Amino acid sequence: MNPTNPFTHILLTLSLAVFCSGAAVAKVSTEPVKPTPVAANPEAGKRLYENNCAQCHGADGKGDGPAADFVYPRPRDFSLALFKVRTTLSGQLPTDHDLFKAISKGLPGTSMPAWEKFLSEEERWQLVHHVKTLDTMGLFKEEPPKEQVVISNPPKVTDELVKHGAKVFQDKKCWQCHGQSGRGDGPSAEGMKDDWGQPIRPVNFTKSWTFRGGSNLEDIYRTFTTGFDGTPMPSFAETIKEDDRWALAAYVKSLAREIKTGQVVKAKHVAGDLPKDPYDKAWEQAGQLDVLLAGQIVLEPRWFKPAHDTVGVRALYNEREAAIMMVWDDGTQSKGDNGKPADQVALQWPQEKAAGNEKPYFVLGDRQNPVDYWRWNAAQGLARQIFQGYDKAAPHGADGVVAEGGYKDGQYRVIFRRPLSAKSDKELSFAPGAYVPVAFHLWDGNQGEEGMKMAISTWHYLLLEPPTPVTVYLWPLGIGFLALGGELALLRRLRLRRKSPS
Ligand code: HEC
Ligand code: HEC
Repeated sequence: MNPTNPFTHILLTLSLAVFCSGAAVAKVSTEPVKPTPVAANPEAGKRLYENNCAQCHGADGKGDGPAADFVYPRPRDFSLALFKVRTTLSGQLPTDHDLFKAISKGLPGTSMPAWEKFLSEEERWQLVHHVKTLDTMGLFKEEPPKEQVVISNPPKVTDELVKHGAKVFQDKKCWQCHGQSGRGDGPSAEGMKDDWGQPIRPVNFTKSWTFRGGSNLEDIYRTFTTGFDGTPMPSFAETIKEDDRWALAAYVKSLAREIKTGQVVKAKHVAGDLPKDPYDKAWEQAGQLDVLLAGQIVLEPRWFKPAHDTVGVRALYNEREAAIMMVWDDGTQSKGDNGKPADQVALQWPQEKAAGNEKPYFVLGDRQNPVDYWRWNAAQGLARQIFQGYDKAAPHGADGVVAEGGYKDGQYRVIFRRPLSAKSDKELSFAPGAYVPVAFHLWDGNQGEEGMKMAISTWHYLLLEPPTPVTVYLWPLGIGFLALGGELALLRRLRLRRKSPS
């Protein structure tokens, strides 16, 4: 099956439907759809739209505003009247309340803002009315009847429910797109397009913060019950029975992990050798920090649509060396042999001891402040360079820096190691308790990223957490003694007072 064929997902959906036949039909509400509380004021709606929405969605709602080329996914083209986050069955128009919710809460993981922070309720209802006028086929005017999915009585999430959900996930072949690990790396994941002709990828279930339709149990249940119209994400309302759908929602939610951001990567001290294998159990003791990434837009060629929004970082050290591991999900491994660039990741450090607090320019340093740059390439391995600005690079011997990478279940893990002490006095040494500036760069070859087309972070810090000193354990004991001493002193004073003449 050719994955770029627009019929692929229809075929897949059909084959899934056949596969799943025999299951009960979704419960749909027969209740009339809730009325819209605010009557349309066309002028107000148009004005609000022009002021707040047109820069992305375009003046006529064709998804072609001046900012459209700079965001991924692209702003919605309203002319086809296709909407993702709905309570209505697949192929039906959303309710006004669905549109109101999307406008109010925004679509997480995309550039679509949550307008409840900026616009009043009345204004958001006017926008609902206006968006409905932008469908060029006039579907909203006909106001066909809608069937809403009933979302009531979510079950208590238990281990058993999650386990059952895992089975439904297998049986109903969610993995074909979302991957066995749920990281969006299934066999059908690559080369899909949405109905607006844009490339689209299945969602990575471990990154719950990117779920457009929300990530609580009811949201997830609703998403695969109604499907996302306009995308390969089908509706399973008719092919999975209600109980199984709740179990599936619980399973999908169990794969999700919370994002943990911050500025400091804390390296844990380990006794003995540092693990060389990225899958070694020892890495579990190093907590993961999710470093936020953005497109590189300060130098030409600017890159507004980076493939990755975060990279996970963990670190360990012993008496001799430090190791940093970079972890990121990538549904498509590129080793540079499929006509696309290879996947890459890089660490950037100030090359010299910083004078005061001054750090080199955050993208590849500057003439006065060089950076030590370690780049790992999925095809070629490690290259170490010194940069003094993006246009001045010199190769540098590895000098004890080692990099090892692994790819499994749609996820990369790359370890960089180096000795704690530097070769020369001028260079940066790593010492427990000291904060060392570090920045991270990431390229997804399959998405055409190479050179300056990359995702970058700002400066962060690596801190080698001093091993817990023995005195920490003595403290509670000490406090116990102090308390006891204090009590004795108090007793004595009371006794003295009692003895003293009145
Ligand atoms: C910075 C760009 C940006 C701005 C400004 C913006 N949007 Fe969006 N909007 C998006 C993107 C991107 C999507 C599509 C995301 C996707 O397809 O996953 C979207 C999708 C939508 C959707 C579709 C929701 C669904 O369930 O399919 C609606 C409705 C919407 N926007 C309304 C608005 C309104 C109304 C405004 C102004 C108040 C607005 N947007 C302003 C970027 C923007
Ligand atoms: C034919 C491929 C395909 C199959 C099969 C598939 N999905 Fe999806 N799914 C997608 C795509 C593509 C998206 C991303 C849609 C987008 O970005 O707008 C998605 C998104 C999702 C989302 C996240 C929506 C959000 O809020 O952003 C959930 C949850 C989900 N799918 C659940 C499931 C479950 C559960 C199954 C199995 C019953 C399943 N999917 C089967 C392609 C598929």
